[in-house]
This record gives sequence, structure tokens and C-alpha cells, in this order.
Amino acid sequence: MVKPIKRIGVLTGGGDCPGLNAVIRAVVKSAILEYNMEVIGFEDGFKGLVENSFRPMDVSSVTGILPKGGTILGTTNRDNPFAYVTYLDGQMVKKNMSDQVISNLDSLGIEALVVIGGDGSLSIAHEFARLGINVVGVPKTIDNDLSATDVTFGFNTAVATATDAIDKLHTTAESHHRTMVLEVMGRYAGWIALESGLAGGADVILIPEIPYDINKVAEKITQRHDAGKKFSIVVVAEGAYPVDGEMVVKYTVAESHDPIRLGGIGAKVGADIERLSGSESRVTVLGHLQRGGSPTPFDRILGTRFGVAAAKSVNEGLFDTMVSLQAPSIVNVPLKDAIHELKRIPTDSDILHAARSIGICLG
Ligand code: F6P
Repeated sequence: MVKPIKRIGVLTGGGDCPGLNAVIRAVVKSAILEYNMEVIGFEDGFKGLVENSFRPMDVSSVTGILPKGGTILGTTNRDNPFAYVTYLDGQMVKKNMSDQVISNLDSLGIEALVVIGGDGSLSIAHEFARLGINVVGVPKTIDNDLSATDVTFGFNTAVATATDAIDKLHTTAESHHRTMVLEVMGRYAGWIALESGLAGGADVILIPEIPYDINKVAEKITQRHDAGKKFSIVVVAEGAYPVDGEMVVKYTVAESHDPIRLGGIGAKVGADIERLSGSESRVTVLGHLQRGGSPTPFDRILGTRFGVAAAKSVNEGLFDTMVSLQAPSIVNVPLKDAIHELKRIPTDSDILHAARSIGICLG
């Protein structure tokens, strides 16, 4: 018989994502209503754990948040307690603040922590688990690049946002007989580009998993033009790169778990297409619109199921695990299985085969 847990902490870490509030709401409600626990919410991710910035959460504190984007607890994608950034005489210094975190948790009487995050946040969560903290992870990211779960929450909403953008670009592309290039998020995995491109009827989809040959892309546009289709839609993941080139890094954030910030490949692809095919091109960068907005019903439901499963996992003592969708069930997997490598699109997957099979150019 596992000793009942009385008080838990919850935090959201890394880039925000539609559905975070659905998870927070489900953790809070289920922990209180089903397991009679108390819940403390830490503010701004791991920063709140280091700085001891928190708020008690009752059922009324999560009322009305289900359809809201973002996270009511706040988040950052740069604060790692094991390499916490401070400035000494204007110089950046990274300090290990894990002892501070453990003492903050002890003094608040917190017996378990629910960490809602992606690869970076769940790696930190696993480090705390190794130090003896009772941790349960919940898989979050619009990029859908976490291993050991069928899908992360937030991805479905991001795909819906990108698909809506492609639908809108279609009408203006057709009117002006242009090539419209849409750059979407996805640093090392092209899930958003591939799924929104399929859903939106793109003619070309470029993803980080398949370095592209720009001549093949231009050829596709020219073939369409010759067949009387005078417009084209190209979806490019921000992490896509040419066979003879590299990812386009816009800037770096030194404090971040993954410091590079991408951007600019869409502009390069648009200019190259115009030069090689003669098709007038315009480029749209969808950016953080993909991270915002109200979650789709799918993400609200998945977020709720994940949140409830996280509270249950705490109650059952299933620590150092992550709740995971292995359809149709929610199961627990070891945290290390989720973080050991990014989930990229397998190049032999049926979804890529489907795209090729209907004539989509993958570069
Ligand atoms: O990991 C989520 C993500 O949205 C990536 O797709 C993107 O490259 C990155 O975060 C952007 O980070 P920031 O919000 O720091 O610009």
C-alpha cells in the first residue's frame, strides 16, 4: 500500500502550447476531488521552483480556463535549476540551484511534482527524479517531437492553425497566379509542416528529416504551371535545409536548453523558387501564432485525460514516469524513454508514402 500523498506541486515549463490550461485544470480538479490532495502551482516553470514563487490552487482557481490558450501559471524556456543563469559583474554565470529547489519543496511539504513540459523540461524533471523527488511528467509541445507517446497535446491545435493559414493562402495564390510559401515551426521534426501540408493540400512540403533539392522543388512548380495550374503552395518547416546547405539560424538564446532560434528558410526557398522557375513568390512566416489561441476539442480532451492520469499516477506512486497516449489508452512510460531521443518523422512512414503517392514534392 503506497502512503497517501497529501500535497503536490504543478508547473508548466518550456514554450507555451494550447491545452496547458486543460492539463492544469484536470490535475487540480482530479487531485482535489478524487484524491483529497492539496495543490500548489509554481509560477513561470522551474524559475518558480528556484525562486519559491507559487500559489495555492483550489477548484475555483481553474474555473473557466479550459478554452484559454497559454498557461495561467506562466512559463519560461530558459530556466534550468541545474544551470541557473545569474549575472555577476555583468557576466552570465550558471549555478546549480537544485539544492535550493529541494529545500523549497521540503519547506512547503510538497511530496510530488507534476511537470508539464517538452523535451527540455522533462529532462530536468528526470534529473530531479534521480535526486529522489517524486516526479510525474506530462508531454507537451506543438512540435510533437517527444518520444514514447503517440502524440503530444498542443500539436493538433498548431496543425489546425497552420491548415487554416494554408486555406487562406490558397485563395490569394490562385487569384494572383503565385507561389505562396508558408514557414511553420518544427526545428528537428517536420510534423506540423507535414500534417498541415497534407490537410491543406500543399504541393511541396519541406521537412528537416529530408534535406531538399531546390531544383526538384522548382521543377514541381514548373510542371504545375505547364499543366495549367498557375499557382502553388509550399509548406516549409523552420528546420528544413537544402542538401548542400544548413538550417537557417536567426539568433541564439544563450540561457536556453536548446539555444538556437530558427527562421528564414521560407524566404530562401521563396527567392530560389522565383529565380529558378520564374513563378512570382510570396512568403509568410506563421511563427508564434501556432503556439497561441484556444485549444481544439482534441487537445482539450487529451489535456484533460493527461492531467487526470498525472494525478492518478501521483496517487499510485508511479514516479519518474510520463503519462503517454498509446491509443486508445493513457499509460505510464519511464521518463527516460520520452527524452532519450527526439521523435522525428520516420522516412519510411506511411504518412510520407501517402504524401508522395498523391504527388506532393518532398524535395
Ligand atoms: O519547441 C517549441 C517551439 O515553438 C519551436 O517550434 C520553436 O522553434 C521554438 O519553440 C521557438 O521558441 P521561442 O518561443 O523561444 O521563440
